[in-house]
Amino acid sequence: MATNFSGNAHPWARTIFQAKLEGYRLAMPEHEYVNIKVEIEGDVGLLFFNRPTALNALSSSLMRELVDALTRFEENEKIRCIIITGSDKVFSAGADIKEMSTWNSVEALKQGNLERFDSLRKITKPIIAALSGYALGGGLELAMACDIIVAAEGTKLGQPEINIGVFPGAGGTQRLTRAVGKFKSMDMILTGNTITADEALNRGLVSRVVANELYLSEAKKLAHEIAMKAPLAVKLAKQSILKSFDSPLSEGLEFEHRNFYLIMSSEDKQEGMRAFMEKRKPVYSGR
Ligand code: CAA
Repeated sequence: MATNFSGNAHPWARTIFQAKLEGYRLAMPEHEYVNIKVEIEGDVGLLFFNRPTALNALSSSLMRELVDALTRFEENEKIRCIIITGSDKVFSAGADIKEMSTWNSVEALKQGNLERFDSLRKITKPIIAALSGYALGGGLELAMACDIIVAAEGTKLGQPEINIGVFPGAGGTQRLTRAVGKFKSMDMILTGNTITADEALNRGLVSRVVANELYLSEAKKLAHEIAMKAPLAVKLAKQSILKSFDSPLSEGLEFEHRNFYLIMSSEDKQEGMRAFMEKRKPVYSGR
């Protein structure tokens, strides 16, 4: 069944099925969103930034659409992994400078865009950021709010906000520092200089670097691989890893151990271990 992404009736009249790829790809009606595009490929939800003339700058309306689409992906039981990407030319050049240039503190607070970045934390399914071209400012901050980052080798990553008289405000000072450490984070944020994908990989800022033409196919391959695992185990593993950013080791270990005891009662644990012993592939139900 097609998911209604508009929030309005009537999805059936507008939903377009396309027999592409392995014959199971579903393309959502393109006019539902203006600043993003969404597609579903089997058990993977794909979200593309779609503001080419503004280098996918993250305007308020784009961020609203992003949160809406992610929420619908989260609610769709068939989707087990999510990819956020841009175009070959640019992942995102950051928050929309033209929009922000007219705001004072009160207007910025009213817009609440920074909280929209935080809403990624509520998504329990794994989110892969697939980067190409530029991942700058809020673009890099959004990628860092995802769970896995796949980057094309030509990607330039950076926090250039200091060059326009501000500094990273969508998690950059916190997540970049946790990823690369104090000294590289200070260097990047205080100079605004970019780094290459290879340097980002060496410093633990991205998960994988691939040839330019492969970044999206690699992200899809990875997403489908994760989507085949037991969903509850994936969810609890993600939660447990994220807990390590918010808590001392003892609390994190306790959280992990409880989640592990919890997963022992899942049907998929029985299936996974039985399949191992019977020397066959497991078939997971998500229970
Ligand atoms: N916001 C709004 N518009 C943007 C934009 C942004 N972040 N980045 C690029 N654009 C627009 C440009 O204004 C230009 O529009 P016009 O054609 O109407 O003039 C168009 O996109 C193409 O950009 P360029 O001509 O600059 O393209 P380029 O190839 O010469 O340079 C670039 C590419 C190096 C990425 C350059 O565009 C750039 O430096 N962009 C800004 C990067 C930046 O400072 N990001 C941080 C934003 S602040 C932030 O993110 C705050 C936060 O933490 C939440």
